[in-house]
Amino acid sequence: MSKGSGRLALLLSGRGSNLGAFLRAQQTGQLQGSVEAVISNRPDAAGLKIARDAGIATATVDHTLYESREAFDEVLAQKIDGFEPDVIVLAGFMRILTANFVDRFRGRLINIHPSLLPKYRGLNTHQRALDAGECEGGATVHFVTADLDEGPGILQTPVPIEDGDTAASLANRVLPFEHQLYPHAANLVLTGQVSLSKRGAVWNDEILPPGGQIWKPNCQ
Ligand code: GRF
Repeated sequence: MSKGSGRLALLLSGRGSNLGAFLRAQQTGQLQGSVEAVISNRPDAAGLKIARDAGIATATVDHTLYESREAFDEVLAQKIDGFEPDVIVLAGFMRILTANFVDRFRGRLINIHPSLLPKYRGLNTHQRALDAGECEGGATVHFVTADLDEGPGILQTPVPIEDGDTAASLANRVLPFEHQLYPHAANLVLTGQVSLSKRGAVWNDEILPPGGQIWKPNCQ
């Protein structure tokens, strides 16, 4: 992988606020690469407009047009390969990917999940954290492997839960942290500082904890 000038393809299904964060990081020189393509499984995803307005190539692979996950994933993989990305960034991409797809991009496929993994894999993470009486929520950037939300963590940032928080208020407080965390974590992969091994994510020859290294935006 080229150091510091990598190509990113970003996959999304919805509003694209994390895409916006990558574009801001790119504009301010804080991203060690460039967003070359945005691909969505939903033709109406708001994130596609953000990409078009920024002059970035877009593509849609509408999952409703394919009879199987395998067929959809094959076309999606071909579309991704056409942009020759170094790293593929899942940012609110709401499709479960097949093991074949994940293996094809092994070590180059990353995701952001709105919890402190390994806690609260899957959906409704903030509500589940509140229901469990947690004192903090957060977000984790991790390598994607065939098991949903179980890939080795790269970085995670904790966010305090406050009295009276609802799932919506907690999600709103976590989101700006995601926006700082995700480009930073992508840089670690783009520059080869963090990589995926059979034993987990590796940084400076050390295996990171399952959820990744704790990261706090203003304390580095
Ligand atoms: C984020 O909360 C992310 O953690 C989750 O999906 C959401 C995507 O938001 N995986 P956006 O489309 O980037 O605004």
